[in-house]
Amino acid sequence: MRLRNIPGAREEVSKDERCFGAGDDTKGKWSGIFGRKAPLMVEVGMGKGRFIIDMALKYPEFNFLGLERYESVMVKALKKLDRMKAEGAEVPGNIRFFCGDAAYLTDYFENGEIDRLYLNFSDPWPKERHAKRRLESRGFLKIFGNVLKDDGIIEFKTDNEGLFDFALSELEYAGYELLYCTRDLHADSSEMQDNVMTEYEEKFSAKGNKIFKYRIKKHI
Ligand SMILES: C[S@@+](CC[C@H](N)C(=O)[O-])C[C@H]1O[C@@H](n2cnc3c(N)ncnc32)[C@H](O)[C@@H]1O
Repeated sequence: MRLRNIPGAREEVSKDERCFGAGDDTKGKWSGIFGRKAPLMVEVGMGKGRFIIDMALKYPEFNFLGLERYESVMVKALKKLDRMKAEGAEVPGNIRFFCGDAAYLTDYFENGEIDRLYLNFSDPWPKERHAKRRLESRGFLKIFGNVLKDDGIIEFKTDNEGLFDFALSELEYAGYELLYCTRDLHADSSEMQDNVMTEYEEKFSAKGNKIFKYRIKKHI
């Protein structure tokens, strides 16, 4: 994601009541924040929010949270919702945002508080010395395992084959069961029935890139 500093983004995010951050008392409180008890679905690294907003519209029975570490990116999701409202489109009420780093998820969520995590087109960190920064590395999978409920699910999509191979190779160290795996998601008509496109997925699949996906379940 190309980053441009957007003046005022930090202030905008901090005063928006749909957004939360490290200074907020959110751990174990998410049902209260959404005003109802419902399964909590979180996209880590949501970017401009297209996927998580579309998911919230598609599944009104769940609570959706978009986690993103940069305010300058997060404001684009807020603006998108504002634009939808101004245009008279349906705006999901079951969505919130959190500005923070996935490395500190256990500060933001209670153990077992999340039902499902989505990792979409994560930054690949191609240099070997940066492998630990990849969200699909065993270290991050362990953090995710803490905040996921016992049979919680992680779904991961990417067009980066090297990152996907790495992600698969990390599973044996991390205590997850592989439920689904494809190297060409868009050719799998049954999986595509419920597929919600991300911004990056649309861009890269339009160029002819294959989309890789796995679905894994945390071992109890
Ligand atoms: C390549 S973009 C993909 C955006 C979106 N998920 C999509 O598929 O269109 C990756 C996003 O993840 C965010 N990100 C990367 N590492 C993160 C971390 N450790 N915690 C929170 N967000 C992160 C980046 O800032 C960026 O916006």
